[in-house]
Amino acid sequence: MAENTLKPGLEGVIAAETRLSSVDGQRGELIIAGIPVEALAGNATFEETIYLLWHDALPTASQLAQFRADLARRRELPQATLDLLKEAATQKSVVMDALRMAAGTLGLSTTGSASTGEAEEEALTLVAAFPTIVAAYWRWLHGDEPIAPRSDLGQATNYLYMLSGEPPGPEQVRAMETYLNTVADHGFNASTFAARVIISTQSDMISAIAGAVGALKGPLHGGAPGPALDMVFEIKEAARAESHLRDKLERGERLMGFGHRVYKVRDPRAEVLGVAVERLYQSGGDKALYELARHVEVTAVALLAEYKPGRNLQTNVEFYTALLLHGLGLPTELFSPTFAVSRVAGWTAHCFEQQQTGRLIRPKASYIGVKDRRWVPVEER
Ligand code: COA
Repeated sequence: MAENTLKPGLEGVIAAETRLSSVDGQRGELIIAGIPVEALAGNATFEETIYLLWHDALPTASQLAQFRADLARRRELPQATLDLLKEAATQKSVVMDALRMAAGTLGLSTTGSASTGEAEEEALTLVAAFPTIVAAYWRWLHGDEPIAPRSDLGQATNYLYMLSGEPPGPEQVRAMETYLNTVADHGFNASTFAARVIISTQSDMISAIAGAVGALKGPLHGGAPGPALDMVFEIKEAARAESHLRDKLERGERLMGFGHRVYKVRDPRAEVLGVAVERLYQSGGDKALYELARHVEVTAVALLAEYKPGRNLQTNVEFYTALLLHGLGLPTELFSPTFAVSRVAGWTAHCFEQQQTGRLIRPKASYIGVKDRRWVPVEER
């Protein structure tokens, strides 16, 4: 690339090397720390995936037990975090804002240094505390008291437990583990890049992750599962799917949950989550909704091929995320925060990698302003 070529949005620019995840949009391939997502997501617990990302190896049984315990004893939130969340609930802050503010308070007990030991401690605290923050805040927002985390449960189980107060069944736990594993890391997406930029200045882990939450909040980054589910609800019954979707396409609207910037073949995460969703809905839940959603999906893919031939617009990760999280009883407002509960694993892993191997991230901008403006004192303007 020529030195001064402008790449808006840095599209296609390689800014770092990573061993964390490989995203191949042409082949429809996602590899997480060496393991294809299809092999990892449905088998691993979320703790195993986090460990794999952080340590570049699957844990042995004793390492896993130690790691689970290390996370479990960091789940309780400091009083200052609880106070902030309670106040944010009275202000009705959106959940992602509450999460970003609360993430910052987790640095109260650390020194904010960039040392390796401090970064490890902060990463454990962040990963352990994110589910507690989201669940506690959600409950306060709806006038319920938070449910204290249980240290005998895994990350996925405990998260579902803290949201509803009911211990989830094995199929629900498996579905949540699969979701958390599937979206834990995905190349140099915007929030991961934001975290790496911050840590590349030798800032601290808490600052980097608070910044990443801010980046994830924007609707261009992971904001489609809510609208995808709304679309299924709007359609209401299978017989209406074709005319409803056709009308949308005729009006030039996009079908939410279909198409992808990187994947030009089927998004491998959609495949993995599709299997998990089928299993979850077969074990209970709203089977009629599942059947309707499958019909909407098949109809949408066929219509997209008709209206946008050659584009190969396939079902993406968001469509199945919506169905899976809805099947687990989560409202749409919790979809992005739950994504953060998972992606914090990838963000922290990228921060470690950046600290070990990275260089200050400092691209250039091409100046397009004037260069001959005259200085005019304020009283003369
Ligand atoms: N519904 C209808 N048409 C779609 C479409 C969709 N979901 N996704 C892409 N298209 C069409 C575009 O209108 C465009 O048509 P045109 O060439 O006739 O103008 C063509 O396909 C290519 O679109 P483009 O915007 O270049 O594709 P992209 O790769 O930049 O877009 C997305 C990727 C994700 C932004 C896009 O597919 C989209 O908006 N999907 C819906 C939202 C969504 O599900 N987002 C979550 C992604 S994980």
